[in-house]
Amino acid sequence: MRTSVLNVAAAAALAFSGIAAAANITEWKSRSVYQLMVDRYARTDGSTTATCEAHLFCNGTWKGLQNNLDYITDMGFTAIQISPVVKNIDDHTAVGDAYHGYWSVDNYAINERFGSKQDYDDLVAELKKRDVLLMVDVVVNNMVQAFTNPVPPKVDYKKFNPFNDEKYFHPYCNVTMWENSTDIQKCWLYPYGVALADLDTERSDVVAEMSKWIKQLVSNYSIDGLRIDAAKHVNDAFLPTFVNASGVFAWGEILTGVTIDMCRYQEKGLLPGMPNYLEFYPLNSAFNGGSMQDVLTMKNEANTGCTDIFALGSFIENHDMPRFASVNDDLSLAKNAMAYILLNDGIPTVYQGQEQHFKGNSTPFNREPLWDSGYNKSAPLYVQTATLNKLRSHLIKKTPEYLESASVETLVDRNHLCLKKGPAGGQVVYCISNKSSTGDPYTLNVGGFDAGDAVVEVLGCTTINADGTGTILSYQNQGEPKVYVLASALQGSGLCTTTTAAKPGVKVNSGASPMGMTSGVAMAAALVAAAVLV
Ligand SMILES: *[C@@H]1O[C@H](CO)[C@@H](O)[C@H](O)[C@H]1NC(C)=O
Ligand SMILES: *[C@@H]1O[C@H](CO)[C@@H](O)[C@H](O)[C@H]1NC(C)=O
Ligand SMILES: *[C@@H]1O[C@H](CO)[C@@H](O)[C@H](O)[C@H]1NC(C)=O
Ligand SMILES: *[C@@H]1O[C@H](CO)[C@@H](O)[C@H](O)[C@H]1NC(C)=O
Ligand SMILES: *[C@@H]1O[C@H](CO)[C@@H](O)[C@H](O)[C@H]1NC(C)=O
Ligand SMILES: *[C@@H]1O[C@H](CO)[C@@H](O)[C@H](O)[C@H]1NC(C)=O
Ligand SMILES: *[C@@H]1O[C@H](CO)[C@@H](O)[C@H](O)[C@H]1NC(C)=O
Ligand SMILES: *[C@@H]1O[C@H](CO)[C@@H](O)[C@H](O)[C@H]1NC(C)=O
Repeated sequence: MRTSVLNVAAAAALAFSGIAAAANITEWKSRSVYQLMVDRYARTDGSTTATCEAHLFCNGTWKGLQNNLDYITDMGFTAIQISPVVKNIDDHTAVGDAYHGYWSVDNYAINERFGSKQDYDDLVAELKKRDVLLMVDVVVNNMVQAFTNPVPPKVDYKKFNPFNDEKYFHPYCNVTMWENSTDIQKCWLYPYGVALADLDTERSDVVAEMSKWIKQLVSNYSIDGLRIDAAKHVNDAFLPTFVNASGVFAWGEILTGVTIDMCRYQEKGLLPGMPNYLEFYPLNSAFNGGSMQDVLTMKNEANTGCTDIFALGSFIENHDMPRFASVNDDLSLAKNAMAYILLNDGIPTVYQGQEQHFKGNSTPFNREPLWDSGYNKSAPLYVQTATLNKLRSHLIKKTPEYLESASVETLVDRNHLCLKKGPAGGQVVYCISNKSSTGDPYTLNVGGFDAGDAVVEVLGCTTINADGTGTILSYQNQGEPKVYVLASALQGSGLCTTTTAAKPGVKVNSGASPMGMTSGVAMAAALVAAAVLV
């Protein structure tokens, strides 16, 4: 997106040209990703009653996942991101068990806690049958060992496979200067209960071994894409070599809300994509006392700063951050955040349990077993996600340009952000708001269509016609998101096969004097005026 770095972008494209035809970056951009933790998704026997501690194994497996794929595909997801697959430490450490899969001890052995290689292969076969891409999380920054002694941790390097010698690691120091890239890349993370022995990824033998390993891993485990854990904590030069060796698309975890710190990874050709932490922060803030204008500001900044916003993973929840509903459990706010994630530029990524409005706070409490929800396919966020995933896939299929057409704002104020995405004829116009479920009825004038267009709001399956200027009257109520497409564009999608004419919302949240339709419209007029003033 930045012409000044075209040569750099071209170099990056060249560096990642090893990306296999099987699932190239273009293919990934058309997908929608469901992120799950294998230990917390489903058990082999489907049991849901044995309760588990948040920091211990809950005993979910690959077989359990395979048996419950309908839950994911019925929600319209076309890719999954799963926990790391290699063998972890077995220790019960002071900070819990390796249920998450991030505590690698043997990169060449399978993680038997999640099942056998046959179980894994059965899962892969089922995914292929359903045309679901598989992204696997990988750890490159460190190998792990339990320790109880005081720092510096005494590590028995012989236990690691490979890297069975101290020479492959940086000397111990604890990360203390989080803004100092040398410190975060060369020192060790998290010295409590487990030592995250920090690999010296500057060494050519470490790079060569990692390249050999990832090539084998991708092949042995039929991997279509990678999430590289803690990518910010290894040196820059390691990343493009590793990604190229893998031959598949990769996201690197770059935890920062600062545009230049994030976008430099694309600009310098270090990574093809990253989870979009840039928008994560203002988006959260907009639903927690902040303003929607800040979401747009960051969106525009990322659009200018990053070379490929369409390869960023759009998300509002993951396994590292407190759940959205842990801060504010209003359902309308969650629906708006979810709508944005699914229709935004970039690859939608929904973290297991988000669709069930889970409320877990910080790690490990944000890793609730999904079976606690009963896999309820009638849950409101599940239903909305299914609709919007299907809509997105349909629009992409109809006009592939949808994917790489950057969304543009049609309306923004402190409470609303309305965006238009996609080419004329196949565009979606959607409005998110932070009014919450106590929001009153009012109307918004939203542009983005042509004069007289017949338009459908797909979350409520209501119809409305655009006026002579291509503007539609959006009937807001209870802070619900609104998603508009041309009636003609919906054909063949299976969505909104029956519709009703849109009409003004009716105030439902007032205690003493519920407003009738007429006063609701009057209120709507007043609020439109107010919206224009802010
Ligand atoms: C990328 O990988 C391919 C095949 O593995 C290799 O031939 C090529 O030299 C690599 N390119 C870079 C820039 O590392
Ligand atoms: C990516 O793969 C698709 C098939 O899935 C193919 O049609 C397309 O040409 C490929 N794009 C590139 C840039 O290789
Ligand atoms: C998980 O499995 C282990 C045995 O592998 C067992 O000791 C433990 O109780 C199980 N945990 C739960 C929550 O079922
Ligand atoms: C490691 O550094 C952090 C600051 O990043 C500090 O809070 C912690 O006490 C240190 N831990 C040890 C074991 O040195
Ligand atoms: C950054 O961290 C490195 C490694 O810990 C240290 O040697 C260096 O002095 C730090 N730089 C600054 C400016 O603090
Ligand atoms: C991949 O499979 C081969 C053949 O079974 C095995 O020798 C190799 O160690 C495996 N590599 C990894 C990373 O699992
Ligand atoms: C919505 O935005 C307004 C204006 O910035 C703010 O005052 C309000 O607190 C926000 N609402 C929520 C639920 O965060
Ligand atoms: C599933 O969710 C719907 C909608 O929230 C609710 O009405 C229903 O009771 C739930 N079913 C179960 C079994 O919890």
